[in-house]
Amino acid sequence: RPARFTLDPSFTVGEVDPRLFGSFVEHLGRCVYTGIFEPDHPSADEAGIRTDVLELIRELGVTTIRYPGGNFVSGYKWEDSVGPVEDRPRRLDLAWRSTETNRFGLSEYIAFLKKIGPQAEPMMAINLGTRGVAEALELQEYANHPEGTALSDLRRAHGDKDPFGIRLWCLGNEMDGPWQTGHKTAAEYGRIAAETARAMRQIDPSVELVACGSSGQWMSTFAEWEATVLQETYDLVDYISLHAYYEPRDGDLESFLASAVDMESFIENVVATCDHVGARLKSKKQINLSFDEWNVWYAAEWHGIENSDSRDWAQAPRLLENNYSVLDAVVFGSLLIALLRHADRVTVACLAQLVNVIAPIMTEPGGPAWRQTTFFPFAQASKYGRGQVLDVRVDSPTYETEKYGEADLLHATAVRAEDGSVTVFAVNRSRTQSLPLQVTLNGLGLTSVVEHNALADADPDARNTLTHPQRVTPHQVSGTTLSDGTLSAVLEPLSWNVIRLA
Ligand code: AHR
Repeated sequence: RPARFTLDPSFTVGEVDPRLFGSFVEHLGRCVYTGIFEPDHPSADEAGIRTDVLELIRELGVTTIRYPGGNFVSGYKWEDSVGPVEDRPRRLDLAWRSTETNRFGLSEYIAFLKKIGPQAEPMMAINLGTRGVAEALELQEYANHPEGTALSDLRRAHGDKDPFGIRLWCLGNEMDGPWQTGHKTAAEYGRIAAETARAMRQIDPSVELVACGSSGQWMSTFAEWEATVLQETYDLVDYISLHAYYEPRDGDLESFLASAVDMESFIENVVATCDHVGARLKSKKQINLSFDEWNVWYAAEWHGIENSDSRDWAQAPRLLENNYSVLDAVVFGSLLIALLRHADRVTVACLAQLVNVIAPIMTEPGGPAWRQTTFFPFAQASKYGRGQVLDVRVDSPTYETEKYGEADLLHATAVRAEDGSVTVFAVNRSRTQSLPLQVTLNGLGLTSVVEHNALADADPDARNTLTHPQRVTPHQVSGTTLSDGTLSAVLEPLSWNVIRLA
């Protein structure tokens, strides 16, 4: 039987915040060095930024870019990363057992964002692992104060006359995780986050602040962590963060394909926790969600290094360089759908990460840059997923998964743009069967199918690589129709679909 749903402009989820299409640049492996920054590369500009990568970043359509970590930030000394490059110290990066040269730093990050374009907004994480309130304030003064104080004048002396204007700040990273340098209990973190937020607002009440939520729904402290942290910080912060990474466990591809079931329940559980604390505090304020790390990540290789005694402190080593298949891209697309389906509360999200490290863009030092399979769903969602998310309640055939029980074969959302056109994003989770889809369109004034584009392949393991960078690309699907107010389409097995209607 076909999967079905109804679209009606009276039933909406909410407006998509452009920040939903954020990404993340961490000083980790080759994300920065030989990823975005490689002065000797033939395409490098005067500042050492790879222009071939810049072009792909623009095409990807990323907005907010979180920086400089991740786990890296919990040992980060921002002052190492500013001023004359030749004076910047080399430091041990405990998080990734690497050597950080600081050749790329705060000023370079802001200049890099400007080159991407006006949509690229900074999201700066501060170190609440090994540091605290004083250093956060110093960084804020250096970055944002116009002039006339020691640190703002230091920035100017370093060549940055204009303040950086960073509005969005993360109060630490994954502070619930025992792997985090300076890991804290919820009560300890809640206090330092509250004190830091209070002090940062003394400089500028309009900053937007993200408190650390859990590193995953699987953490034993999940929900209690959020409740404790928000009890301390509710009036002082704007967002609570969520992080989630998915990979197949023990070859269980059926559960992997339903990863968004977990992602959606994670979001809904965090919303419930935020609202519970708000109710307890009798507050009218709403805390929104910053899903500031999400992706497919095959983490076993890293856990092997993490659990070993190996410490070679290499410079920009090849770490977390996952090569994504078509199947991974379908799961990835489904994670994007999960975010859009909750656009009323998830108003910031960052794909972790941007280049080389679990990334949609790969590079070779001195060589080319190319798109991974996951590049395409992100670029399409960012391009067409702007406007009002329509409420989609699917009636779908189901399948059995070990982890999540019965799951829908269809995962879908739809976004109505300002000009009235509608884009349906849909995933068919079946590995073997095509899925017929029928969508009833009520009162939307739509008359034609502009295109039906899909990512699917006879070989779900197909990937783009250095030697075959264009092995996988999306294709047009024929036969999709709109007549008498009904959209009819067939979704190929294991496919990500973008159906544009006008
Ligand atoms: O994105 C890779 C790492 O995953 C980040 O540094 C950390 O925050 C998370 O555990």
